[in-house]
Amino acid sequence: MIPGRVVPGVTYRQLSSESTDPAYLVRYAVVPGADALNTAVETAAQARLVRFVAESGQGEGTGAELHVNVQVIASGGGLVAERLTALTPEGAKGSVTHQTWYASSTDNWVIESRELIAEKHQKAFADLVVERARRQLSADAYVDRGLTPAEVLRDVTVNAGGGLTVVLDQGLLGALTEGTQYAELTSAEIEPLLSPRGRQVLAALPPVAPTPTSEPPPSPTPSSTPSAPVSTQPASGVDCAVTKCVALTFDDGPGIYTARLLDELKAARAPATFFMLGQNAQAHPDLVRRAAAEGHQIGNHTVDHRSLDRLSLAQQRWEVDTAAAVLRRLSGQPVTLLRPPYGAYDASTRTLGVPLILWDVDTEDWKNRDAAVTTRRALATVRPGSIILLHDIHQSSVAATPGIVQALRKRGLTLVTVSDLLGPLRPGAVSTRR
Ligand code: NI
Repeated sequence: MIPGRVVPGVTYRQLSSESTDPAYLVRYAVVPGADALNTAVETAAQARLVRFVAESGQGEGTGAELHVNVQVIASGGGLVAERLTALTPEGAKGSVTHQTWYASSTDNWVIESRELIAEKHQKAFADLVVERARRQLSADAYVDRGLTPAEVLRDVTVNAGGGLTVVLDQGLLGALTEGTQYAELTSAEIEPLLSPRGRQVLAALPPVAPTPTSEPPPSPTPSSTPSAPVSTQPASGVDCAVTKCVALTFDDGPGIYTARLLDELKAARAPATFFMLGQNAQAHPDLVRRAAAEGHQIGNHTVDHRSLDRLSLAQQRWEVDTAAAVLRRLSGQPVTLLRPPYGAYDASTRTLGVPLILWDVDTEDWKNRDAAVTTRRALATVRPGSIILLHDIHQSSVAATPGIVQALRKRGLTLVTVSDLLGPLRPGAVSTRR
């Protein structure tokens, strides 16, 4: 199971680079009817991205990575809670930060975490939180920075006892290496301090169970590492040793434009390969089922688009196996192909038991967001055996697809899935084209 609640009607917007200069994925929920909330989280998420891009420098190969995910963490009684988790895994400087909002999906208001507490009590409450959380630090590690309630009370959630749990940003009370501190407040302690909206939230929303953590849970079942070539199911009957084949691949979805893309591909009778994120598949299960039912191949793009070369073998295994399990269950297909996010992998990735599929034609559609430019790039260097990289999370890429399909066929190229293009592959093999 992938962390994050599945809420009917909630869709996700996503901005992701498919390059490591710099690498980023920013994803945030869009809740129908909660415009104020949607605007607040979009503004916060995009501000993180702008700051990251500015700070990570303009040079290529800086190795910086930003990962922002805003998810619904609780909903009920017309209210919804969302938490932003931002991860910058930069070695010793790496950190995880959180921010939580509460909103109505009917009355269009949104508050930040600290506003659960009446304004006149926020300072005292924040002091209490710091007092309690600093006990988790090692001796003499506490640094008194004169923190404001806005800094301390960024991630406040309802806990199982009807009290509040406050998670403090890493590095706030001590050094980054001290990790994350938190404070638990009982319902009796918080009751006199709540704001009217805070009371409403406590009455309506269910508790948020897990304390956020940057560590993924251990893999439930380690993936097998077969030594034989992974068998694939060439469905088309096209022999790409004879026919001039080309594969269109769509990464990072499914998302809000995927249904339209499937309509276009269906109208053009064009098969494609979708390298899906496990968390997006879980949010849009019908799109996974539909893509598979309509003859497209489903590939694995990990759970949440982390750069695998920065993760331990166990973490990589969790990313790949968890996403594969979700995709397999929804699609009914064996999901054997892995496209590592950013095309980034290391020696460990090649031991995961799956072939790695890169590309030789990069449309840079995530960067140009322009159907004409995307089309031009798709056609500029394509040749028989090519794998073309596109992203179905961008409207411009979906708009470009019918024209690309038509132009490829005009050149005598036959569209096939990646498995049909490449045939059987050995686990750990890296392919960029046929
Ligand atoms: Ni990607």
